[in-house]
Amino acid sequence: MNKNIVLKKAENFAKNLLGHEGSGHDWWHIERVRNNAHLINLTEKADSFIVDLAVLLHDVGDHKVIKKTKDDYSIAENFLKEQKLDIDIIEKVMFIIKHMSFSKTRNNKVENVSKEFHVVQDADRLDAIGAIGIARAFSYGGSVGRLMYDPTKKGLKKNAATLNHFDDKLFFLKDLMNTKTAKRIAKNRHLFMKNYVDCFLGEWNGKK
Ligand code: ADP
Ligand code: NI
Repeated sequence: MNKNIVLKKAENFAKNLLGHEGSGHDWWHIERVRNNAHLINLTEKADSFIVDLAVLLHDVGDHKVIKKTKDDYSIAENFLKEQKLDIDIIEKVMFIIKHMSFSKTRNNKVENVSKEFHVVQDADRLDAIGAIGIARAFSYGGSVGRLMYDPTKKGLKKNAATLNHFDDKLFFLKDLMNTKTAKRIAKNRHLFMKNYVDCFLGEWNGKK
């Protein structure tokens, strides 16, 4: 098995499935997460083949991408099986993909996970905050017809305006980073988002 060939195939597989997907999981999200993961991994030194494979395949079965109510992990798993990879590689990659999402790990931290898991999860979460995170939130909100902000619906989660998403999720992410590098990067991105929301509300109320 040639690792570079498998990675190239996984890249093409993800590009074809994600393309211009509209919920914030388009191909460029994967490219950015891969860049984040490489940076984090300079210090973590996790197995880069496992990290890259998990990054490339982590969103192909996401329910928002496949437009279903549940995630479908068989899409990534079948791809990995077709590459005739060792079963332990497939298991490691699939464990990461199945357990990394925010909604699943928010209240119960996954125990005994690999270094590779930490790198991939942090890399994905970094892409949800900072300047890119803001853009993704509004772009997602627009794609499902949400208002940017609705002062009469503060605190409402379901079908709330996009600005609520910062308090619901985005402002928590910095404290959920696993690795040193991601914690450092998250600090700046978090401050930028805080400042952004302050400015947004200041402008909304004619104060700035
Ligand atoms: P992940 O794939 O990291 O688990 P999601 O699928 O929940 O994340 O979200 C993908 C992108 O869309 C993220 O940048 C996220 O912040 C944004 N997003 C998700 N839900 C909302 C929402 N209700 N309002 C605005 N943005 C959202
Ligand atoms: Ni992702």
